[in-house]
Amino acid sequence: MRLEYETTGIDVADAHDDPLVQFDRWMDDAVAADLIEPNAMVVSTVDAAGRPSSRHVLLKGRPAEGFVFYTNYESDKSADLDGNGLVALTFAWLGLHRQVNVGGRAIRVDDEVSDAYWSVRTRGSQLGGWASAQSSTLTDRAELDERLSAVTERFADRPVPRPPHWGGWLVVPDTVEFWQGRLNRLHDRVRYARSGDDGWRRERRSP
Ligand SMILES: Cc1cc2nc3c(=O)[nH]c(=O)nc-3n(C[C@H](O)[C@H](O)[C@H](O)COP(=O)(O)O)c2cc1C
Repeated sequence: MRLEYETTGIDVADAHDDPLVQFDRWMDDAVAADLIEPNAMVVSTVDAAGRPSSRHVLLKGRPAEGFVFYTNYESDKSADLDGNGLVALTFAWLGLHRQVNVGGRAIRVDDEVSDAYWSVRTRGSQLGGWASAQSSTLTDRAELDERLSAVTERFADRPVPRPPHWGGWLVVPDTVEFWQGRLNRLHDRVRYARSGDDGWRRERRSP
């Protein structure tokens, strides 16, 4: 369970001025390295009592403003985001000894953006989106199967529309930290924080 990381580092000076551009470079590296689900990220939210919870989702958009994922708007995570919008993302590209942590606020994407992504999902996923009331309690698996049968019948022979309870969240970052594993636990950390309207401040942090 102990790895020594012999990778090359990341220098504050080499890192791009824009953390989102730097992120895209690292995502390209993760894809090129053939890592499993390189776009998987942990989304952490907090409820009204301040209780945190985390789960993986898939990054499905990287517009200029930030990071987009899709989910059920009536799920627990969406309830948290509707309540306070506070969110953290973690990408773990362990095969490259890299991690990226993002902090920011989440807002719902425009309906047209969700429609566009919905339209490229498989029909099976679309039916699943109707069948599952994400985060609610099921009596058993059969109940879910019955719900799937019902929506399959309901939308037989016609396109499956996007449910009103399904769509995207855009995470607008105010901090982005890049972590690169190095030898002897003396890892590199480069952290960006928003400064001013469209600028970023960058600093190296102690590992
Ligand atoms: C690799 C991976 C990718 C996932 N991608 C998504 C996703 O894109 N959207 C989603 O709603 N759930 C996704 N899930 C399921 C979530 O982790 C979670 O179980 C679900 O969204 C319900 O979370 P909640 O009850 O905390 O809201 C994924 C799970 C894994 C392990």
